[in-house]
Parts: sequence; C-alpha cells; structure tokens
Amino acid sequence: MIDISFAEHTASGTNAKAKSSPDSWVALVAEEGKLSPAAVALDKQTGGAVVAAVASGKFKGKKGQALTLVAPHGLPVARLVLLGIGKEKEFDALAAQSAGGKLAAHLDGAAAKKAKVIVETLGETKHPVAEIAAHLAYGAALRGYRFDKYHTTRKPDELPTLEAIEFALKDAKAAAKHYSALEKIVAAVYTTRDLVSEPANIIYPQTFADKCKELTKLGVEVEVLGVKEMTKLGMGSLLGVGQGSAKESKLVVMQWRGGTGKAEAPLAFVGKGVTFDTGGISIKPANGMEEMKWDMGGAGAVFGLMKALAGRKAKVNVVGVAGMVENMPDGNAQRPGDVVTSMSGQTIEVLNTDAEGRLVLADALWYAQERFKPRLVIDLATLTGAIIVALGTSRAGLFSNNDALAEQLAEAGKKSGEDVWRLPLGDVYDKQIDSQIADMQNIGADREAGSITAAQFLQRFIKNKETPWAHLDIAGVAWTKKDLDTAPKGAMEFGVRLLNQLVADFYE
Ligand code: BES
Ligand code: ZN
Ligand code: ZN
Repeated sequence: MIDISFAEHTASGTNAKAKSSPDSWVALVAEEGKLSPAAVALDKQTGGAVVAAVASGKFKGKKGQALTLVAPHGLPVARLVLLGIGKEKEFDALAAQSAGGKLAAHLDGAAAKKAKVIVETLGETKHPVAEIAAHLAYGAALRGYRFDKYHTTRKPDELPTLEAIEFALKDAKAAAKHYSALEKIVAAVYTTRDLVSEPANIIYPQTFADKCKELTKLGVEVEVLGVKEMTKLGMGSLLGVGQGSAKESKLVVMQWRGGTGKAEAPLAFVGKGVTFDTGGISIKPANGMEEMKWDMGGAGAVFGLMKALAGRKAKVNVVGVAGMVENMPDGNAQRPGDVVTSMSGQTIEVLNTDAEGRLVLADALWYAQERFKPRLVIDLATLTGAIIVALGTSRAGLFSNNDALAEQLAEAGKKSGEDVWRLPLGDVYDKQIDSQIADMQNIGADREAGSITAAQFLQRFIKNKETPWAHLDIAGVAWTKKDLDTAPKGAMEFGVRLLNQLVADFYE
C-alpha cells in the first residue's frame, strides 16, 4: 500500500519541509499550460525548463496528463513531474481521483519511490484545495492496489517502486481530516479486491465466512449459517446449487447498528457469492472459465460495504447477507429439470444449472426480508453475461421497483464514479419465466432479454411489493481486463463506493 501523508506548505515553490526526502516533486499545470505558483517557482529554479517542456511537447496540462523532467538542473530531486488538471473550474473530487490514480501509475512507471505533490490553486478552483488534495490521495491509493502475493521469482526491476506520496498544501490538517474518512473506504476496497482476486481453492464459502468474521473487530455482528440451519429454514433453492460441491454452502449475515434508533428498520444488502461457477451440469466452456472465481463479486461488495460503513462508524442500521456456494458438476449435483422449493415456498424448475446466481439470491433475499423487515433491499450479483452485451464494462445494470430509489442510485453512481444504468421490468418479461410444471423456471423461454428475465426472477422473491428494491447486475464491472484510472487491471469492488455514497447522502 502506498503510504499517504499530508504536510504543511506555506511558501510557494519548493521550500516546504518534507517529512522524508522525496526523489520526485510534482507540480500542477492547468489546461493551456497555465502553471501553478510552485510550477512557476520551479521554472525559475531550473532556468526555464518547465516552460520549455510545456512549450515543446504534447503536454498541455490536460486532465490526467503527466510529464516528467528527468534530473532537472538546479533541483535536488531525480525528477520533476508536471501533472495536468485540465480546466481548474472543472477539477472536482472525481476528476482529482482520476488524476491522482494516473499520477501514481506515472510515478511508478518512472521508478519513483517517494514523491511530494504540491497542491495549490491556480486561482480558478470552485472546490476547497484540501478536499482536492484528499481526493488526489484517494485516487492514488486506489490505483496503487496490488495483488502479487503469489509471485515468488520476480526480479527487482519488475517490482513496483512507488512507496510514498506526500501532499504538500496550505491546509494540510483539513486535507488529512478529509482523507481519514476516505482511507476507510480504501481499506474496504483493498480487502474486497483481495477476496475477488483470490482463486477458488483459497476463497470458498467457509474461508469467505471466516474473512467476514474479522469484521467483528469493527463492531459488526457476524453470523454464519451452514447446511443444517439452511435446510431447517427450507432454503432448497440456494442449497440445490451447492449440492454438487465438496465445500459446504454458507449464508453469512452481517449486522451494523450505527443508527440512532436501535429499533429503526435496517437497509438490507444482499450479495451473490458463488465462489466458483463451473455452470454445474450445464457446464461452461473451458475457455475463460477461470474468470468464474470472481462470481462472488456481489458478496464481496456487500462485505466491503459493511467494512466501509463500520470503519467510518456510519450512523445507520444496515444488514448484509451473502449467499455463498460453489457451483460444481458432480454425481450429487442438481440436474437440469430438477424442481426445488425455495424458502418462500415457491417452486422452481431448474432448466439450466448455470443460471445459479438467481437461485442463491432467491433464498438470501427472502431470508433478509423475513428476518429483518428492512426499509429497502438492494442486491448485487455478477448475474448475467447478457448485461455485458447490453452495457459493456463501464456501468452496472440497475433494475428497481421504485423510481425514487433508482434515482438515488443513479445520483450516487455519478458522484462515486461507479455508474449504473436502469433497465426495465414488466409483465411481458415476467411471463417468460413461467414454468410448465412449477411456479417458475430459472431461465427465460428463449434467450431474449436475459438480464431482464433474471431480474424478474429475483422480483418474485420480494415479499411485499411496496418494499423498495433494487438489483444491480455487476457482471461487467466486477473485474477489469485493463488498467483504469483508479484500479489496476484485475479485481474491482463495484458497489462498495456506490452504496457507501448512497448511504451517506440519503440514509444517514
Ligand atoms: N456467473 C454467470 C454470469 C457471468 C458471465 C458473470 C460472465 C460474469 C461474466 C452466471 O451464473 C451465468 O452463467 N449466467 C448465464 C445465464 C444463462 C444460463 C441464462 C449467462 O449469462 O450465460
Ligand atoms: Zn452460472
Ligand atoms: Zn454465476
């Protein structure tokens, strides 16, 4: 993890006392090459090198652009980096996160170890500089995530170099204070990404539940139900998915009671936790099957959200329910055509054992509502390949029975950078999952509208039509195949930042 710190910076230029001696200084440049006061001072110290660099190349201070001057004459550092912030008026929290992330990647690419970033206004900002500094740091920390525990033979020059970034600004105290809340989210994001990155021989229902138990330290009450308890509750839908696996299925229940009224109905978050999805007897093709280790991304996000909320002591009552199973083909596995009875009493004809996420959520959703009578329910699941066809990898699919909740999620998405896009629900789609021999079947009559019929299936497990419910299909956003500004390629934590924002803005 990159060590983030904030230091007082009073004089313009480079006189700020650094906690440690950095090998890199970073100064801000806005669009059209407008230099920050520090960049101006550094230009003087280097005999005009900064202005010359901006004049001679492509770097013009656009958002997220970065330019390195190596061994600049007159400065005691190995490199001077100019960081573009675009139009300063538009440089808001989200833009600062992206720029911070790009900066971290740039510094690491340039083999920097310790950097000092001088954060100041060029005179046109609408946003408090301390907040901008905190969000630059947040973005750098998010991008600095690594999952390299299984590499044992890397040579030193293949290892990441960046260890620390110090942000120097006038109001360092305010920035540090602002960052202290963001730091809790960083910690939650990191553990979620760890869980999602881990292969399925390491993270399976029991070991995932063990991880969840660690939240007890933060004041979260954690219960783990096994097959015996779930059988008693009649969770035939969830249990059917796990019956071909050597790993015992689990239901993890996490409660955070931070609300002022202890009796206040909680918000419920429910996650699909398929620790590996082979497809079961309706087995998936070999090519790319390894990706199905991250089919527990929904449960991972619920875990991360609980960690973030408890970490920052959110003033709200929340319950997180994670349905954990492994979907395997086996002599004991369920067959296409099997009929199972869910906890709700509704029967399901399992026409395709690869449409298992909805079977897990059916019982997890019902349990959450029956036990906790929540004021709203939001589920997260890597549910359908069809949502990737529809929306690609930049937005999650949103389905909801409640316009106000859908609006809140869209707003929280824009603010947190974890965007959602709403798709419809309706009777025409619902009909497609009527079964000939049971109350419903687990796939649509044909391949049409696959993400919507999946959502319709889930809606049949919302006990009371009036309960605000939203379903987030995160199949396209739980993993990234390329580096993003605030996430290196690999596991994501889609939902943690979105739902933390939702809770903070509308429910605390
Ligand atoms: N876990 C998959 C969905 C998925 C696909 C997630 C790609 C991430 C990337 C889910 O369990 C599944 O297999 N869904 C099927 C449903 C179909 C059988 C109706 C699908 O999308 O093909
Ligand atoms: Zn599947
Ligand atoms: Zn799945």
